[in-house]
Amino acid sequence: MFLAIENPLNSSELIFPTLECMHILGFAFSVGTIAIVDFRLLGLGMRHQTVGEVASDLAPWTLIGLALMLTSGPLLFSSDPDMYYLNWVFDLKMVLLLLAIVFHYTIHRRATMPGTSALRSKVVASISIALWVGVIFGGIFLAFI
Ligand code: HEM
Repeated sequence: MFLAIENPLNSSELIFPTLECMHILGFAFSVGTIAIVDFRLLGLGMRHQTVGEVASDLAPWTLIGLALMLTSGPLLFSSDPDMYYLNWVFDLKMVLLLLAIVFHYTIHRRATMPGTSALRSKVVASISIALWVGVIFGGIFLAFI
């Protein structure tokens, strides 16, 4: 006997858009603050502070943003799991997201430390931007492909 349990998230029309708002807010805090550090690594703006100072000032906001994404995302997913995990764009987004988070807390973090060469800073920042743009495109095109 198959017990169909109704997902409480689908019980009201307001829940999904509210979760999407949380998801977009989390995206602004997480990817937004990471992008600011990447622009500093590229030497674009904020030169009155060192890369390390910018990165450490923004790190708590990045964490808050990622926490919002890693809670609102699975909840959005749970509203219709079959529609998402059978979609190759979603799978690609999840792979890029894992790579982006691991990259952020390893190679990217090391690049924000003193003594990193200008070339290495630019390469690391470019990879970081490419990974997060990939995650965002995955999120946006998810609903269209
Ligand atoms: C930092 C990490 C993440 C970023 C930057 C991100 C980005 C996005 C973006 C830009 C959208 C489109 C929003 C819209 O069109 O209104 C989206 C939608 C979505 N994301 Fe994420 N996301 C992240 C993490 C996650 C995670 C961890 C999951 C699930 C495990 C997830 C599941 C979804 C789902 C289900 C949608 C809704 C697609 C729809 O409109 O049907 N996301 N995401």
